[in-house]
Amino acid sequence: MRVLVTGAQGQVGYELLQRVPRGFNVIGYNSRELDISDRAQVQEVLARVKPQLLINAAAYTAVDKAESEVERAYKVNRDGVTHLALAAEALGIPLLHISTDYVFSGDNDTAYKPDDATAPSGVYGLSKLAGEQQLQQHCSRHVILRTSWVFGAHGNNFVKTMLRLGRDRDELAVVADQRGCPTSAGSIADTLWTLAAIFQRDGALKWGLYHYCGAPACTWHDFADEIFSQALALGLLEKRPRLKAITTAEYPTPAKRPASSVLDCQTLEQAHGLVPRIWAGELQRVLEQLEKVASEA
Ligand SMILES: NC(=O)c1ccc[n+]([C@@H]2O[C@H](COP(=O)([O-])OP(=O)(O)OC[C@H]3O[C@@H](n4cnc5c(N)ncnc54)[C@H](OP(=O)(O)O)[C@@H]3O)[C@@H](O)[C@H]2O)c1
Repeated sequence: MRVLVTGAQGQVGYELLQRVPRGFNVIGYNSRELDISDRAQVQEVLARVKPQLLINAAAYTAVDKAESEVERAYKVNRDGVTHLALAAEALGIPLLHISTDYVFSGDNDTAYKPDDATAPSGVYGLSKLAGEQQLQQHCSRHVILRTSWVFGAHGNNFVKTMLRLGRDRDELAVVADQRGCPTSAGSIADTLWTLAAIFQRDGALKWGLYHYCGAPACTWHDFADEIFSQALALGLLEKRPRLKAITTAEYPTPAKRPASSVLDCQTLEQAHGLVPRIWAGELQRVLEQLEKVASEA
């Protein structure tokens, strides 16, 4: 089965290309090779490549910058998805797409289910929600996978920021009143490939909106604590920085973040048998990869 992957240089896109299962012929395009915000280019590339399945890992993901680059965020996250959805529908191919926990306000005490009310608090979440709606409107066979707190060995993320700051500083202040679910880019890629394999085998999928993230839920402070424990054990850090727990109010950012964006992944398990992975184990694999790269350098 021929699959076209957009955003192939991003965290998830990169892992998708690293983990191609047998039986798939995958063509990955980075943002220079295929700009999803360019409608004519999307149509031209899809018509030429003629994929049987499209996976969109491209997105504008700069949450804080989006507050001042509103037009750019919508151009990619809403209009880019519209172009892909229309082209996929015209060619009769399904589209697997990734969205975010930031479509929710974060005011819930319990985990968010896919059909819970959305209320994004920033431009990034609003633009991603607009993309979901465009996809639902224009492409009959689609899966939207909302995920959260993505980390991996490739690209920029919280794990790499903590490692860098942990080497430079004796003390770090990390927010301890926001809860969410760290999710490895590799586990998202594997989940998308499992869905692709079901589609390849059955010619169909239970299309729709699902949640997929790591388990269990934690705070950024808990996540940083585990990063430092594992990094020390692997020799990626020489000393453990002191971790200070702070509130969101003490760490102001241009974009407001949800206080609790824990996602309930049950419907994905019921429909497709996919279960969340323990993020600490995924973290260990990512840190081992980073340690290998560091020791080879
Ligand atoms: N990162 C997170 O914590 C997080 C959390 C929840 C959900 N998600 C969602 O998960 C998905 C994957 O995110 P990620 O972490 O892999 O993001 P990422 O590392 O920022 O990768 C996104 C990729 O999209 C590319 N891109 C940007 N604009 C594009 C355009 N107009 N046309 C084609 N490609 C374009 C970027 O290329 P350039 O770098 O060249 O611009 C980048 O390689 C996204 O849908 C994101 O919204 C992410």
